[in-house]
Amino acid sequence: MLVMITGAGGMLGQDVCASARDAGHDVIALARAELDITDAQAVGAAVRSADPDAVVNCAAFTDVDGSERESDRAHAVNEAGAGNVARAAATAGAWTVHVSSDYVFDGLGTEPYVESDAPRPLSAYGASKLAGERAVAAGAPDRHTIVRSSWLFGAGGSCFPATILRLAAEREQLTVVDDQIGCPTFTGHLAPALVALATERRVAGLLHVTGAGRCSWYELARELVASAGLGCELRPGTTAELGRPAPRPPYSVLGTERDAPRLPAWREGLAQFMGARAPAR
Ligand SMILES: NC(=O)c1ccc[n+]([C@@H]2O[C@H](COP(=O)([O-])OP(=O)(O)OC[C@H]3O[C@@H](n4cnc5c(N)ncnc54)[C@H](OP(=O)(O)O)[C@@H]3O)[C@@H](O)[C@H]2O)c1
Repeated sequence: MLVMITGAGGMLGQDVCASARDAGHDVIALARAELDITDAQAVGAAVRSADPDAVVNCAAFTDVDGSERESDRAHAVNEAGAGNVARAAATAGAWTVHVSSDYVFDGLGTEPYVESDAPRPLSAYGASKLAGERAVAAGAPDRHTIVRSSWLFGAGGSCFPATILRLAAEREQLTVVDDQIGCPTFTGHLAPALVALATERRVAGLLHVTGAGRCSWYELARELVASAGLGCELRPGTTAELGRPAPRPPYSVLGTERDAPRLPAWREGLAQFMGARAPAR
């Protein structure tokens, strides 16, 4: 099949391109420089001329704190841009796979959030992602899969594990938030699931897809520091101490009540992430 990937230069986008090629598909990879998804005309023209079987939208404004200051920009990309992609894909008869976020929930619950749970974003970023889901559903009714995932990490971008490994190598002590719980998800595991949803298993509507298992950022950092053999001392901290501009959901665990793809455990993803970073001997 011919698969078009928008936001192809991002952390997830790079792995989706690689997974689609590995699965034997032809790929049109469009990074922001090649296609700005906020430009509806350009999106329409790109999709018309390529005539893909599926479009996977990995483009987003992902700066959670920056979205508090620049909520117009967040909505332009995450809402209007997402709608542009879905509309153009549906017009061309292509299936849309769109990526959304656990931040559409307030995280005040104590049980994993499933697809039918009512969203209530706490942050401007979460609100823009929820608005994007609605724009995709309106732009490509019955021809889309919206995949909510969480706590992404991968080789092709800046992510929590990469930051922790850098800081832990520089410092003797680090305080890491222990009161946010979530499901870390390796982009190398999520990407092939998105490609399968775009090409073979076209499950319509909303799906929750994350790495199996859950932990706090502090627990994730401990695992990282131990497996890298670093001597940095880690201390558990609170979200309030950190004082970030955007509120985060405290309990950000996604579950599924649908026939969603099941991914390997986040620890397996972390091992692969670490293996890919190990210097060649
Ligand atoms: N990271 C997470 O923890 C997480 C968790 C849950 C869901 N998600 C979702 O997963 C998806 C992929 O995120 P990611 O982690 O791979 O983020 P990322 O590395 O920031 O990738 C997003 C890409 O979108 C591009 N982009 C921004 N504005 C654009 C525009 N107007 N037109 C076209 N491309 C544009 C960015 O380009 P520039 O770099 O040039 O701006 C970047 O390459 C997003 O939908 C995100 O909301 C992420």
